[in-house]
Amino acid sequence: MKISPLQLERANYQPKLPGTFKGAFRLAEGKPAHSVADREEIRDQFPQTYGMPVVTFTEGGGSKEHGPVRVGVILSGGQAPGGHNVVAGIFDGIRKLHPDSRLYGFLGGPDGLIRHRYMEITAGYLEGFRNTGGFDIIGSGRTKLEEPEQFDKGLAILKELGIEALVIIGGDDSNTNACVLAEYYLTKGAGVRVIGCPKTIDGDLKNEMIETSFGFDTATKVYSELIGNIARDANSAKKYWHFIKLMGRSASHIGLECALQTQPNICLVSEEVAEKKQTLRDIVEYMAGVVAGRASRGLNFGVALVPEGLIEFIPEMNLLIRELNDLLVEGTATEEQFRKTTDEDERRELIASRLSAASAGVYRSLPEGIANQLTLDRDPHGNVQVSLIQTEVLLGEMVKKRLAEMKAAGLFNGKFSTQYHFFGYEGRCAAPSNFDADYCYSLGYTAAMLVGEGKTGYMASVRNLTKPAEAWKAGGVPVTMMMNMERRHGQLKPVIQKALVRLDGGPFRYFAEKRAEWAVETSFVYPGPIQYFGPPEVCDQTTLTLRLEQGEA
Ligand code: FBP
Repeated sequence: MKISPLQLERANYQPKLPGTFKGAFRLAEGKPAHSVADREEIRDQFPQTYGMPVVTFTEGGGSKEHGPVRVGVILSGGQAPGGHNVVAGIFDGIRKLHPDSRLYGFLGGPDGLIRHRYMEITAGYLEGFRNTGGFDIIGSGRTKLEEPEQFDKGLAILKELGIEALVIIGGDDSNTNACVLAEYYLTKGAGVRVIGCPKTIDGDLKNEMIETSFGFDTATKVYSELIGNIARDANSAKKYWHFIKLMGRSASHIGLECALQTQPNICLVSEEVAEKKQTLRDIVEYMAGVVAGRASRGLNFGVALVPEGLIEFIPEMNLLIRELNDLLVEGTATEEQFRKTTDEDERRELIASRLSAASAGVYRSLPEGIANQLTLDRDPHGNVQVSLIQTEVLLGEMVKKRLAEMKAAGLFNGKFSTQYHFFGYEGRCAAPSNFDADYCYSLGYTAAMLVGEGKTGYMASVRNLTKPAEAWKAGGVPVTMMMNMERRHGQLKPVIQKALVRLDGGPFRYFAEKRAEWAVETSFVYPGPIQYFGPPEVCDQTTLTLRLEQGEA
């Protein structure tokens, strides 16, 4: 297979591990850990894995004898840069425990476990994947592993292959399910342990013990490069406003990090919109104000960042979507009538007439294309597919309309031409930055060591990440410690608490302090492409989010 010169060179990169793993080490156990909230409910649901201690690998201790272990690995959910290095870390870790250890990869995500689709990951096969992006080593998938029937089917193949531990690499939901599985196998005395690894470019799986999820560093660097390039184009041509939507299903960490890196004129933060109960109109007014302000200084160009999840954080849009979901359930009278109506205007009127007065007002104010997206793009359950809504276009069109009104009132005297972009898939499989290459390898290696220690129901944790890898601290966090009860599909469930952008956190506070200046001035920063070779200030810097959260920027 032909590979690029960079990939060839990168294959020789030896990812760094926490210093502890260089010599003899032992596992230190802390005090029993409690869940972040709803202690009693979580304890009831996880009688076996609740109250375990946080564990940390520390230097010293005699070397332990290990027999060969057989471990399974699953990649779950969306791709994130560095996944291959997690697998490499697990592989090298279990070989360190014993050279005859074996690693099996389940193919296409959790489905591979249920359907018994797997492969053995050998040293030769793994070689071509070290330090590369993507999840193609074994593939990923979004099947949710949550039913006892699935657990039993999985157990059959785990037993057949003699696998004693499973590492699940995934986001908050996959790790919640990993813990449910750990609990189930323990209760059953199945003899299979489960360890999780924190993955997602969205950056919303983090807490006191998990400083960041892997992939966030690389993905935001890729998007920041692209945004910087666009900003420079905008500043060169001086004729376009670029509206850029950035991935991140729910939280705005990606948008915020990219804003910190590139200093655009506008960056919306969904969590702030929700907190201030802003309406669509408020947001449009703010954006039009920035455009008009720059225009008054002769600057008819700019860059605006819009988080993918914004729509659901705007209270009135959230209500509208919920009403549409109820209205358009398959088989209802409205849904049938809607399907039979072919004229677009009639269709929109039909919908508007069945909504509450408030939602009808919002619905009528939407540009036609967006209103259609809201009613036509629905998932198999009939729900609006929020991720398909072109929020950047919605805002661009509404800002244009508002500016026309302002022009008529003498409040805007410039030009407004837009270009639209959506960055998401461009960054999810990028070759991992040095940080992600090291972090992922360390997470995988730590997971292997937790397996060696006989742990289950833990997430691998590597901390102290703003320091050089030598000073990183490896260990494990009981998954139950990160849980609280949340309502999902009408039922209260124990889940890992999602980390949204904190408005009192360092990254947002820094942004909030600067944004007025970035709005009027042209303060763009052009980060350029990820560098893998060169001075550490260029190659080994992690995200500003992490540095500001740790008080180091
Ligand atoms: P994970 O949470 O599974 O890591 O996926 C994150 C994500 O990339 C989101 O940012 C995005 O909204 C979604 O996946 C896209 O999903 P899909 O890959 O199914 O199109």
